[in-house]
Amino acid sequence: MIENEVLKNMKTRFSCRKFKPDPVEKEKLDAILDAAKYAANGHHLEAWHFTIITTEEGKKELLDAVAPEPEEFKKFAPKGATWPFPSDFFGAPVVIMISYDPKAPWPDAGAFLAAGNIMNAAHSLGLSSCALTVYSKDVFRTEETKANRAKFIPEGYELYLSLVLGYPEVVPTNKPPRKEGVETWL
Ligand SMILES: Cc1cc2nc3c(=O)[nH]c(=O)nc-3n(C[C@H](O)[C@H](O)[C@H](O)COP(=O)(O)O)c2cc1C
Repeated sequence: MIENEVLKNMKTRFSCRKFKPDPVEKEKLDAILDAAKYAANGHHLEAWHFTIITTEEGKKELLDAVAPEPEEFKKFAPKGATWPFPSDFFGAPVVIMISYDPKAPWPDAGAFLAAGNIMNAAHSLGLSSCALTVYSKDVFRTEETKANRAKFIPEGYELYLSLVLGYPEVVPTNKPPRKEGVETWL
């Protein structure tokens, strides 16, 4: 199999669920966000927005802003998890919320590709990340919490996904191989 630094970086990236409290250098965050903005996106409209939370007050504001626990949470959450999960953001110093303009063509695809760039760029700089389903699309879904959205994302935009980011407490040495049999060749 061909290997190079980029391929190796993509294949060693992992979802981190325990972070060191160390802050992330601003120049690293700038480089990561720059990489995000180079993602492919529908009609090259770059209809995305990134909200970067680096303070404890900011994280607390987000926790206070989220909708109450939805019905389906218990079904999908890890055993013993309480809403919103994880309320400590796995100890990560940085939360990045990615939102998009729903009026643009395929805006969610662009947002997701930007998320991929963030994850891979972070890993290349010795950082790790994890996507958090709870702090995504539906987090401001109720009437009472709809207004909270304005604090975090631009008017008319929709939150797509949040990522946590920071220095990992532990780096896995071997990632299990990925599932085979998921290709069709013609
Ligand atoms: C859209 C999306 C949502 C995710 N949500 C969560 C989450 O809420 N909590 C979590 O611990 N991991 C979450 N993950 C991480 C996945 O569990 C992880 O990517 C998957 O297990 C593969 O592992 P890897 O990222 O280490 O390769 C999410 C990943 C994606 C792409």
